[in-house]
Amino acid sequence: MSIPYYEPTQHGDVLSRLNLFRFIREHLYHSGVSKGTYLEFGVFNGDSMWDAHTTLRGFISHYIGFDSFEGLPPLSPEDAAATKMMPNWNEGTVRGGSRQQVWNHLVTKGIPKEQLSLHEGFYEDSLPKIERQKLTELGPCHVCLVDCDLYSSSKLVFDFIEPLLTEGTWLLLDDYFCYRGSPKHGQRRAFNEWLKTSRWDVTEWGGFRGWGKAFLVHEK
Ligand SMILES: C[S@@+](CC[C@H](N)C(=O)[O-])C[C@H]1O[C@@H](n2cnc3c(N)ncnc32)[C@H](O)[C@@H]1O
Repeated sequence: MSIPYYEPTQHGDVLSRLNLFRFIREHLYHSGVSKGTYLEFGVFNGDSMWDAHTTLRGFISHYIGFDSFEGLPPLSPEDAAATKMMPNWNEGTVRGGSRQQVWNHLVTKGIPKEQLSLHEGFYEDSLPKIERQKLTELGPCHVCLVDCDLYSSSKLVFDFIEPLLTEGTWLLLDDYFCYRGSPKHGQRRAFNEWLKTSRWDVTEWGGFRGWGKAFLVHEK
């Protein structure tokens, strides 16, 4: 007699970002949404942006990325106080290609030029210069990937995205379980602080990629 086989939902592995995007595509399909935006904070060499395009392009009209293209900024006092827990993150870590190189790479691979915006600069300087109204005019934000590692960077991002989110936005926090998973440090701390005053609440969806956690955004 054969033993029933229950296929593990993740094939025994951690859910990959690509498979998460595939599920999000299904979810968007069944949610009756029109085309909207994909926001990404922490573009590095464009791999996650490309994964988003390959899977979500039927639902995304604009891919909008924000990065220094110089790696991490100088550590803030909060980040510096926790370096023992993430010893590999320092100023300049995760420096990839230049903005132009990443742009060329993504356009050559196949993201249409008119759908791609890459905003260069450290968030402290670059985000205040962005007209958020123009971003909301592009359509609802379907997916927002926050992958900028540090408390200080994530804090600036959460404040920035407050008016850009919408009911049902997928908020993907790539660094949620860093700093040994502590709620007192890193992206998780910034997220918890933001939630206290934000007009948005979140529903937990689940973990991805080991370090990351996915949420859906709702009005409080
Ligand atoms: C882990 S990498 C992103 C990886 C990318 N999402 C991927 O999966 O291919 C983190 C990125 O965040 C950027 N970053 C972190 N803090 C930043 C800040 N304060 N301002 C601008 N960029 C920042 C770094 O330059 C780096 O490219």
